[in-house]
Formats: sequence, C-alpha cells, structure tokens
Amino acid sequence: MLDNTVRQLLNEQVTKEFYSAYLYLDFANYYADAGLDGFAHWYEIQAQEERDHAMMIRRYLLDNGERVLFAAIEKPDKLYENDAAPVKAGLAHEQLVTASINAIYAAAFSAKDFKTMQFLDWFVKEQGEEEKNAEDLVKKMQLFGGDPKSLYLLNSELAARVYTAPSTNAPAM
Ligand code: FEO
Repeated sequence: MLDNTVRQLLNEQVTKEFYSAYLYLDFANYYADAGLDGFAHWYEIQAQEERDHAMMIRRYLLDNGERVLFAAIEKPDKLYENDAAPVKAGLAHEQLVTASINAIYAAAFSAKDFKTMQFLDWFVKEQGEEEKNAEDLVKKMQLFGGDPKSLYLLNSELAARVYTAPSTNAPAM
C-alpha cells in the first residue's frame, strides 16, 4: 500500500502522461497537415514515449497492490499560429510535467516512501533529457525555421528519429 497522497498523485500522473501522448499526436497532426512529415514523425515517437511513461506508472501502482483509476483525457485545445508554435508549446508542457514529477517526489519524500522515490529517479532523469530536447528544438526553429531550405533540412533530420523502448534500467511497463 502506498501513502494516500502519493497514490493519488501517481494515478493523476498516469492520465497526465496519456494527455502528453495526446498533445504530441495533436502536434503531429498539425505538422502532417503542414507538409512537415519529419516533425510529424518526431512527435509521433514522442507520443509513443509518453504512452510508455503512463504504462510504467500504471504498472508500478498495480505492483504495489493499488487500483488504477483513469480520469478523462482533456482535448488538446491549442491553436498553432505558425510552425514554431507546437515546438514552443512542447517545451512549456515538458516544464509542467517536470514540476508534476517533482511534486510526486516531494510527496514521497515527506511520506518517507523511499521505494517510490527510487522508482521516480528514472523519471527525474528522463524529464531532464526531454526538456533539453524540447529546448534544442525551440532553438533550431528560431535559427532555421524562417528559411525554407533550412527548414527542409531540419525536417529531414527529425524524420530520422527512431523509437527505442525504454532502457533496461527503466521501470517495467
Ligand atoms: Fe512523460 Fe515528456 O514526460
């Protein structure tokens, strides 16, 4: 059994991770429609990773004898004014997710729930990497997004992203 607050926050995080997947697919939909298939592909893979995160937390709850309760996944309601808008929204979103993971970590710390802290260590590291990736994309769009040839090359670079399942030291799904 987990501490009540930790249990509740982990349950909410499952929904938040599925929302992240939904949001990134929404970005992919925008880019596919704009003819930027590399960007669309990059966010499709990002959505897959978010689904993995949701499944890991779901598994952790189950492995700790907890009932998993799904909440409604919100509709992504962002309007993208230009090709840089989803990328910027992605960075802001990852910053929110980092804050959310940190809040669960803090709750686990105050409950002396060292097992959950250890489980969350992987997510803390992952958030560092995801924020860095999002920041890099924002910078690249600022540098190259205004020039069609450079945008074409950036689109080709993003098209090469390959999905890799979480590493062997990642929590089980
Ligand atoms: Fe699951 Fe991008 O955080």
